[in-house]
Amino acid sequence: MNSRKILVTSALPYANGPIHIGHMLEYIQTDIWARFQKQRGHTCTYVCADDTHGTPIMLKAQQLGITPEQLIADVKKDHEADFADFFVNFDHYHTTHSDECREFTELIYNRINAAGHISKRTISQLFDPEKEMFLPDRFVKGNCPKCGEDDQYGDNCDKCGATYSPTDLIDPKSAVSGATPILKDSEHFFFKLQDFQEMLQTWIRSGHVQEQIANKLDEWLDDGLREWDISRDAPYFGFEIPGEPGKYLYVWLDAPIGYMGSFKALCDKRDDLDFDEYWAKDSTTELYHFIGKDIVYFHSLFWPATLTASNFRTPTAVWAHGFLMVNGTKMSKSKGTFIKARTYLDHLNPEYLRYYFAAKLNNRIDDFDLNLEDFQQRVNSDLVGKYINIASRTAGFIFKRFDGMLSAQSSEQSLLKEFQDQADVIAKYYEDREFSRAIKAIMLLADKANQYIAEKEPWKLIKTDGGEAETKDICSVALNMFRILSIYLKPVLPEMSKKVEQFLNIDALNWHDHQHLLLDHKINKFKPLMQRIEADAIDAMVADSKAASSKQG
Ligand code: MSP
Ligand code: ZN
Repeated sequence: MNSRKILVTSALPYANGPIHIGHMLEYIQTDIWARFQKQRGHTCTYVCADDTHGTPIMLKAQQLGITPEQLIADVKKDHEADFADFFVNFDHYHTTHSDECREFTELIYNRINAAGHISKRTISQLFDPEKEMFLPDRFVKGNCPKCGEDDQYGDNCDKCGATYSPTDLIDPKSAVSGATPILKDSEHFFFKLQDFQEMLQTWIRSGHVQEQIANKLDEWLDDGLREWDISRDAPYFGFEIPGEPGKYLYVWLDAPIGYMGSFKALCDKRDDLDFDEYWAKDSTTELYHFIGKDIVYFHSLFWPATLTASNFRTPTAVWAHGFLMVNGTKMSKSKGTFIKARTYLDHLNPEYLRYYFAAKLNNRIDDFDLNLEDFQQRVNSDLVGKYINIASRTAGFIFKRFDGMLSAQSSEQSLLKEFQDQADVIAKYYEDREFSRAIKAIMLLADKANQYIAEKEPWKLIKTDGGEAETKDICSVALNMFRILSIYLKPVLPEMSKKVEQFLNIDALNWHDHQHLLLDHKINKFKPLMQRIEADAIDAMVADSKAASSKQG
């Protein structure tokens, strides 16, 4: 098999808040896919970064009485710890507030500008006269112009769903200072997205986005693309526009450039990775962005246009997923289902969630329901009840009665071949991001293994005269089944796999190891690989989440 060169990203989380389990759906999805590629022997690089610029981060730092640099440094530490503890295995985690990102952002802006894709004109926007700053839509509040409901944001009404512009609000107030905003003129810079209408029309119909997304994008394209406002006036935390003091680039211009910046920082540390090989216009490597469905517009229109305008390659594909729901509804602070990554980790094993996500994820953009009861039941019955059970029912005999030695020959060649023969099918499911199908196929095999053990009843056989040799064979077959399933589950359960490798006394399992069996080999003592989920732990996590949200007010 030819080794592929693949660069994978997840969307860059905002540096103004903690990672929650909704985010984790994306990072775990990407991580499983990247680990799968690596396990297959491909050169796969997974990078990400914190998204650090913009008004909300600037204001949050002010609120806390610290500099934005301090805020983003603190948050980055927390984000990295959360990811590491969920076993999200980035090759590099960077920040958009970095030299690499600045260099590429300036380069890209200058190239777009030189190619004539920037226009300038004066627009009028709400301005906070006390804070002396322009107000993003989300920082203006007032009464809905349609239904009159008070305390609504500047872009849409929570009550009646109307969308409008912040200047339509009745009795608007700045959410920053409480002052009444005034209208003020300023010159803005625009990226002429319409110059790329044709290019994008072709691009989204060439297999680079999911079909559901292509249909949505078509609607936008049919309306005709408009120029995109990419400048913000000082005060702003971000990159200044080259040669335009006091004007900053809007955070959404430099955010995806963070993918390049992060990869560049990694290339600078590693001799085997070459930036241009992955990003030059004629690159033959693969580039995939995993994102949530809320940011499709940025990744499937602005981003490919930005790259094309600045003479870089475009992504091989942009893959969107749906949103995480908990118990059938949006994560809710009052219900205690707005669960931070850290709160989850305080109570539960991260591999439970990795498994549950995998067991239900597909390659579509439908929302994902984390039903907490189903979560408990599914993990306990599949992982503990089926998968681990195979080893826990058989390992003891080998270890105690046969000096830890597996049989020298396999007695169930055709049964084991069934397990081996599923490798390609399961690999295809992983490749296609149809993780739920992969897990289903794996659990069918686990059922088969348990059935085999139940039929053979080694615990009875071992007590019969002359039953020893056969017991050894049966348990050896079972442990070989267990080993093959462990190979297939490894992208999902990286920590468990380490324990399995230790128990089986083998090197790190790669995908191709399914082709041979473990014979005449000494294993180690079996230790429990995973505990069942207790309902108490889930309840405590929900209670903690509730308490944390009422503390915040
Ligand atoms: N900073 C931008 C992304 C810039 S990428 C160049 C952003 N950040 S975010 O923190 O709001 O979200 C990061 C990723 O997590 C996004 O892909 C987003 O869709 C995803 N999710 C955030 N909440 C989510 C759920 N509740 N469920 C699933 N994914 C979620 O957007
Ligand atoms: Zn309204």
